[in-house]
Amino acid sequence: MKPNNDFVAWFRSIVPYVNEFRGKTFVVVFDGEITAGERSAEIFRDFNLLVNLGVKLVIVHGVYPQIKSKIREANLRSKYIKGLRVTDAATLNLIKETVGQIRIEIEALLSMGLSKPPMANSTIRITNGNYITARPIGIVDGVDLMFTGEVRKIDTTAIRLHLDQGEMALLSPLGYSRTGEVFSLTPENVAIEVATALKADKLIFLMDTPGIDRRSNGDLNGALSELTLAEVRALLSKLESNSVKLSKDIQKYLPCAVQACVGGVDRIHLISRRIDGAMLQELFTHKGVGCMISRGPLQTFRSAEIDDVGGILELIEPLENEGVLARRDRKLIEIEIDRFLVLEYDNMIIGCAALNHFPGTPVGELTCLAIHPDYRNKGCGDSLLKRIKIRAKNNGINELIVLTTKASHWFTERGFNETSIEKLPKIRQGRYNYKRRSKIFIRSI
Ligand SMILES: CC(C)(COP(=O)(O)OP(=O)(O)OC[C@H]1O[C@@H](n2cnc3c(N)ncnc32)[C@H](O)[C@@H]1OP(=O)(O)O)[C@@H](O)C(=O)NCCC(=O)NCCS
Repeated sequence: MKPNNDFVAWFRSIVPYVNEFRGKTFVVVFDGEITAGERSAEIFRDFNLLVNLGVKLVIVHGVYPQIKSKIREANLRSKYIKGLRVTDAATLNLIKETVGQIRIEIEALLSMGLSKPPMANSTIRITNGNYITARPIGIVDGVDLMFTGEVRKIDTTAIRLHLDQGEMALLSPLGYSRTGEVFSLTPENVAIEVATALKADKLIFLMDTPGIDRRSNGDLNGALSELTLAEVRALLSKLESNSVKLSKDIQKYLPCAVQACVGGVDRIHLISRRIDGAMLQELFTHKGVGCMISRGPLQTFRSAEIDDVGGILELIEPLENEGVLARRDRKLIEIEIDRFLVLEYDNMIIGCAALNHFPGTPVGELTCLAIHPDYRNKGCGDSLLKRIKIRAKNNGINELIVLTTKASHWFTERGFNETSIEKLPKIRQGRYNYKRRSKIFIRSI
């Protein structure tokens, strides 16, 4: 049988994500269109798949389009104050009826997903219940919003109990007051509060918009695929002054993202529900298909720790196989882990470098400099080199050497000069691998 290299490479590329997401809590929110819309079966199958991969998943559904048409059919009239519907008793009855109906449809879709590949023979239970305590919003601009409410409290203990048993939590936009009344909530309010209360790792908005127009954000170099909280705030103030154009969905969800970030959720994703496998593409590929908003900077440099050995190996092994880097034993990396610096992006190691000091000499060696192919040519290599130089100086090193087979020009362009083996410290000369015939470079620092 012929080896399928694409499959092997693809499989290896998703392993770091699978490891990263196992045991993490994700909250996904979507409006009512999703149950009847295109790709609904695939979306619900993907929810099951995430749970099977060990993600603790909470899904929050809306009912907006269904309620809108029911109100029309019943000849009722909705009144909105500052974007919030006034929910009278008749409308609340329609909402209760619709929530029940949609919940059943969702449970059916989730059960259907389990009978087909890739989820056949797996069992995932769904939990829902009186997890949300609500209170009335009250009077806005002199108008009583009646049964329109907001989240007051979430029973995180109960939800966690079910998530920890591998169940998926399905939450509806309804909450109950201590006096036994039912209140209509927005799915976004429920999702943000649940994500914050559960200290979720990700909050995902599945939007109706066909795709994210990453070009609509001209002032940020066309990059709507990744934004920090500070950038989102800047974007929102530009939106207020009409100096930037964004789709309706993005306008609606960006303030929600800010609220969730401020509440402590690290990553918010805005994804179109209309793209097949959008959630999987966003979560398991570097490029993604949506917009990821992060609370803090996505990229951090730090000293490596013993738990980073796996991530470092995943990064350097392909380069060792190609002969670009000299082979290193896992044990040796474990022993020498203090010598490594790593570059993390979104909790994954995408770069590393190590510094060896030759005792009794002012010479240090930069080794194992590697940047993940998806992140090259963005200055990451340069930044790691700068940090290695600082570390070297702090250790009394004033000459840095490096041995390379494929990156000579990269180092000469950064002030390194080619030198001969005799210029290496004696101990290093003895370990020079004549088979690899690496070129030797040196520079003062
Ligand atoms: C070499 C390496 C670390 C550079 O990292 P990087 O983050 O892509 O580099 P930077 O973004 O800082 O620099 C990019 C520049 O270097 C150039 N460059 C990248 N790799 C190069 C190489 N092997 N040789 C020469 N130039 C190279 C790019 O073309 C770009 O130049 P440009 O902007 O003029 O087009 C990375 O390519 C890598 O991991 N290579 C495999 C491992 C390796 O060879 N390590 C060095 C031996 S220890």
